[in-house]
Amino acid sequence: MLRSFILFLANARWARQLISRFGFARRMAGRFVAGETAAEAITAIQSLNARGIQATLDYLGESVTSKAAATRAGDEYVAVLGHIAEGGARSNVSIKLTQMGLDLSQDFCTANVRRIVARANELNSFVRIDMEGTLHTDATLAVFNALHREFDNVGIVLQAYLYRTDEDLKAVLAEKARVRVCKGAYQEPPDKAFPRKADVDENFVKLARVLLDHAQLRPPANADGLVPPVPAIATHDEQMIKAVQAYAAEKAIPRECFEFQMLYGIRRDLQDKLAKEGYALRVYVPYGTEWYPYFMRRLAERPANVWFFLSNLVRR
Ligand code: FDA
Repeated sequence: MLRSFILFLANARWARQLISRFGFARRMAGRFVAGETAAEAITAIQSLNARGIQATLDYLGESVTSKAAATRAGDEYVAVLGHIAEGGARSNVSIKLTQMGLDLSQDFCTANVRRIVARANELNSFVRIDMEGTLHTDATLAVFNALHREFDNVGIVLQAYLYRTDEDLKAVLAEKARVRVCKGAYQEPPDKAFPRKADVDENFVKLARVLLDHAQLRPPANADGLVPPVPAIATHDEQMIKAVQAYAAEKAIPRECFEFQMLYGIRRDLQDKLAKEGYALRVYVPYGTEWYPYFMRRLAERPANVWFFLSNLVRR
């Protein structure tokens, strides 16, 4: 119930206007966001790199309503790929297609993303396409497939909470795509997504095992770590991590043939532990001023975050 309500607020314009006004909301969001500018985010990435952790940089924004805004977001990504290279930061980028104009025109969106993937290709970098709500799943996969036919350095995210992901995973692996699997962060109806966490967790482990089997066939292409190995297992859940570690050990899959991924500001202790144990770890580093929906999804993931937020609200 609480998760549904917070996710409803994440999409409500009135709630965005209200909550964004509170200074403490911005400060609390700062726990999950590396800054407002690319320069601040790259400094945060350099600190992660110093801890033996790689990154994927996300310029916050989604559901844009004009082609001009989508083009500006595309320009930002093209520029930031250059800044990453100049700063010697070990990071690729993650993008959301509704920020690139997916709701306006699929062709326009594909062209907008193509120039980002092309720039990343020139720099020996990589672009991960995040997965949004189910209203966009088919279109996101269509844009991804079109670009993946042209470029090898683009990957996709699939969500374990969706019933369809089993089939989607088979289809993209048949095309030798690079996949990040996560649990899924949006509000979805029970005819599309497992309502029970236990079922999501079970499916996550099942999908992760399929990805690991794939890793056996395709060791990392690039030893310098700029291009991520497949597969990417995105979770902070220690049970999921242990299940993946156990399966990798059982199948003798080397640690460098897959990577764990986590979000900036979440389970830093676990991030350091995994990096020290020699697992490849990549942290998702968001930056920018459009932090509201991203922040609300982080609140929805953990009731303790919501109570902390509400207790601050009541004290005002
Ligand atoms: P779960 O939610 O069960 O949490 C396990 C434990 O992790 C919690 O007990 C807590 O300790 C910690 N934790 C998790 N979330 C926390 C939070 N917000 N604050 C504090 N602690 C927290 N989703 C999506 O739909 N599309 C996408 O493209 C992506 N991309 C993506 C990239 C990366 C690198 C990550 C790590 C995650 C995503 N996600 C995503 C989000 C994902 O779907 C999911 O919502 C979160 O990872 C939380 O799920 P966990 O697997 O961590 O498990």
